[in-house]
Amino acid sequence: MGIEIIGIGSYLPEKILTNAELEKMVDTTDEWITTRTGIKERRIAKDTEATSDLAIHAAKRAIKKANISPEEIDAIIVATITPDMFFPSTACFVQKGLGAKNAAVFDIAAACSGFIYGTAIAKDMLKNGTYKTVLVIGAETLSRITDWQDRNTCVLLGDGAGAVILKKTDSDSDILSSYLGADGNAGDLLYIPGGGSRNPATHKTVDDRLHYMKMEGNKLFKIAVRAMADSAKKAIELAGITCDDVRLIIPHQANIRIVEAVGKQLGVPMEKVFLNIQKYGNTSAATTPIALEEAIYEGKVKKGDIVVLVAFGGGLTWGAAAIKL
Ligand code: COA
Repeated sequence: MGIEIIGIGSYLPEKILTNAELEKMVDTTDEWITTRTGIKERRIAKDTEATSDLAIHAAKRAIKKANISPEEIDAIIVATITPDMFFPSTACFVQKGLGAKNAAVFDIAAACSGFIYGTAIAKDMLKNGTYKTVLVIGAETLSRITDWQDRNTCVLLGDGAGAVILKKTDSDSDILSSYLGADGNAGDLLYIPGGGSRNPATHKTVDDRLHYMKMEGNKLFKIAVRAMADSAKKAIELAGITCDDVRLIIPHQANIRIVEAVGKQLGVPMEKVFLNIQKYGNTSAATTPIALEEAIYEGKVKKGDIVVLVAFGGGLTWGAAAIKL
């Protein structure tokens, strides 16, 4: 018995924000953004769309592909750092929107690694046998925590959602391994200082723009390369396979230069590394499921192939999963 992705779906908001438009908002250029990050455009949610709305769109597509009814889902895990509210969890809004009335639901906050953390948790829930069908979603409206006056961060981020339905089946498919890691000591390299219990919202925290993401990109860059390469290697080793057995590496899309450096450290050519950063930028927890869905849709991977999802993010957190589709 293995764990199979029986349905996958993603949702990207319609509105496209190009580098040319960003040139009018902050002191930047299309040339700088393209050469330093690989990003050409990103998607921005409508004012009326919250994270759960994006998540519900993606989940509905995954449910349709899986050809199941929402009542069959017995757990929903939403990975997000941009929840609709402090509480209820975003997963509760998703449950309501889908009519998945038999599901236990919760959110996890592991930033850009959230989807990998979510699939690791879902895997154990399914292997234990208590749950039969688990919906895992990565969904973000990063545009809501982006300081649109800060050129260091605003050019990098975008909105989106990706969802998978995992089920124990008697096929060959399986989550062969999951590897997770973290380093809370470096949490101040990427965080939101205001609005939580440490610095509750006041006029001053808002005036000081403390509700927006702060990032030390340069320091993160080096850690990201090492953490992603190490995580991918560990997941491959835990699965008892080699890099040659992997059809496609699907890395978190924070910077094309990080992705290229990870590919180099793994010793795999760029043809074996999935890239869509040019279209969406960094969508945090939504990035890897969106990329997996695109890789399948574009025919880059098919049933029976092994893919390695690998991510890194705020916390700091990191992780990888080797999945036989
Ligand atoms: N447009 C133009 N110039 C910009 C700019 C922008 N959007 N953003 C930063 N710059 C400037 C900086 O101010 C700096 O100028 P200075 O030398 O006069 O001080 C210069 O470009 C170089 O900055 P630096 O931070 O060294 O650039 P970089 O090559 O490291 O690229 C990042 C910056 C953020 C793109 C890169 O460090 C990165 O991607 N880091 C990892 C981010 C990440 O992974 N985040 C999320 C983890 S999930």
